[in-house]
Amino acid sequence: MKKMSTADMIETLNWRYATKKFDSSKKIDKDTWKALEEALVLTPSSYGLQPWKFIVVENQELKEKLKQVSWNQSQVADCSHHVVFVIKEKMDEEHISKFIEQTAKVRGIDISTLEGYKKMMIGDLVRGPRSEVITEWAARQAYIALGNFMTVAACLGVDACPFEGIEPQKYDEILGLIGTGWKTVCACPTGYRASDDKYADAKKVRFDNNDLIIRK
Ligand SMILES: Cc1cc2nc3c(=O)[nH]c(=O)nc-3n(C[C@H](O)[C@H](O)[C@H](O)COP(=O)(O)O)c2cc1C
Repeated sequence: MKKMSTADMIETLNWRYATKKFDSSKKIDKDTWKALEEALVLTPSSYGLQPWKFIVVENQELKEKLKQVSWNQSQVADCSHHVVFVIKEKMDEEHISKFIEQTAKVRGIDISTLEGYKKMMIGDLVRGPRSEVITEWAARQAYIALGNFMTVAACLGVDACPFEGIEPQKYDEILGLIGTGWKTVCACPTGYRASDDKYADAKKVRFDNNDLIIRK
């Protein structure tokens, strides 16, 4: 693995900003987008269960519709790819079995050796006390994907804006998610900044490192 220099890493993180205005004439090319999809797919999740789907909207008409239920924020219509982070509302045995089958297949191992692991996950997330808060649990996983996605985008010189300013229920209606067991939690318009987006040069507002990092 090639290591990035610390200076390049800090520069990249400062280059990234919550893009307020995208250049609607600029589209993310296929190879770059493929790498960004890999960033979504390769995101780690608790137990590796991946309780998510990533809906990628490129269709202009659909982006315009979603903009109307995104506090009318222009980024949705002007971005190249609008990513909607969707989670599984309830964890179930079916999803866990699917994951176990995939693990056995990918790693070439006997599925019976994974029986204990499967039971443990079911006991925790399907039948245990955590099943009561499983939607929150899934949302937390989705936010890891959002963070991973934004950082990778910055590394590839792609702009993004994390989005909670949306009406998730309306997204579910528009995207046909009602009754499917999947629901929207957040979104991320992605593309290239407009040359006149004044926020690109705005200083980062962060508390002092010493306020945030506690060394013991
Ligand atoms: C979970 C989350 C939701 C956000 N929702 C929105 C949003 O709906 N619209 C927007 O313009 N910015 C949104 N932001 C951007 C933040 O305001 C921004 O990340 C923060 O002010 C720090 O600025 P920076 O990202 O430019 O460093 C959101 C950020 C996060 C992490």
